[in-house]
Amino acid sequence: MFKTARLKLTAWYLLIIMFISLSFSGLIFQIVSREINRFARAPRFRVEENFLFNEDLVVEARHRVLLSLLEINGLILLIAGSLGYFLAGKTLKPIEAVLEEQKRFIGDASHELRTPLTALKSMLEVSLRDKKITLPEAKSIISDSLEETDKLTSLSNSLLELARLDGDTKKLVREKLLVKDLVADSFKQITLRAQAKNISITSRTNSTQVFGNREKLVETLIILLDNALKYSPSGSQINISAQTIKNTALIKVSDHGAGISSSDLPHIFERFYRADIARSKNNKDGFGLGLSIAQKIIEEHKGKIEVKSKLGQGSEFKVTLPLFS
Ligand SMILES: Nc1ncnc2c1ncn2[C@@H]1O[C@H](COP(=O)(O)OP(=O)(O)OP(=O)(O)O)[C@@H](O)[C@H]1O
Ligand SMILES: [Mg+2]
Repeated sequence: MFKTARLKLTAWYLLIIMFISLSFSGLIFQIVSREINRFARAPRFRVEENFLFNEDLVVEARHRVLLSLLEINGLILLIAGSLGYFLAGKTLKPIEAVLEEQKRFIGDASHELRTPLTALKSMLEVSLRDKKITLPEAKSIISDSLEETDKLTSLSNSLLELARLDGDTKKLVREKLLVKDLVADSFKQITLRAQAKNISITSRTNSTQVFGNREKLVETLIILLDNALKYSPSGSQINISAQTIKNTALIKVSDHGAGISSSDLPHIFERFYRADIARSKNNKDGFGLGLSIAQKIIEEHKGKIEVKSKLGQGSEFKVTLPLFS
């Protein structure tokens, strides 16, 4: 598909360049012919009174000019052809990359959707065939099915969120926000889970203000806190802090959990990427979408998100946002 598009684009480049080149050549030929005629007929160039006006010489001169112009056009065709082919390739490369990325994304998304769907289907089929199924057994199957449905809902929500963030985000309502309020809001949604895992979360915030969308920024903090919880052993500690550094608000979320290996570190913001440790039996839940959503949100706010981590020693995620001014 891209080969034909590249050839078509090259043809268009060539067509335009050759149209310009041929028009100018025609014009040059006309001007030069007129000058040759004028030169041949002008009486001041006739040395003698009986100077014989040589018509053949004029025709030959015209042919030579025409030949030179044709040669020049041939050369332009060759150079413009190769240059056009090269430029067409360069023009199409980013589009090709985006399409490739989208293809991979759809492939990964369908794969992730299929896993809980298959589990759900086989669970229901088996229980349907079981004629001696008891009420508690049926209830347990229903509750497992609900769990799988929850996973599907969470996956489709993440996919929708990413699609929205890929689209027009100018409509996001932005306002002046106190970072400590954002931290408090994210706490509300994470406390129960932290308690269940016996993990304590400490926070240190000041009166730093940023300009952004409340819901999305809280969502980012939840994503980071959720990861810290998910990849930390029970009984450990998580810290979140906010401070002002130069013209930026710096939010840090650090944990003493599993950490990330240096080979995984460059990939964790990619869609659907999960380190092997995250896929292990203790941390089955998750699709590898949280951090890519967080990164998109922060980029939309003209900020950046970075990570420092050592395997087995914990991780520190740093979010930098422009200050409200
Ligand atoms: N605090 C952390 N400690 C250790 N590993 C982490 C931490 N945060 C992220 N990771 C690693 O980065 C990967 C990507 O994180 P991300 O939040 O995008 O996906 P996820 O948590 O696996 O799934 P999801 O967020 O979609 O539920 C994780 O699978 C894990 O390997
Ligand atoms: Mg996550």
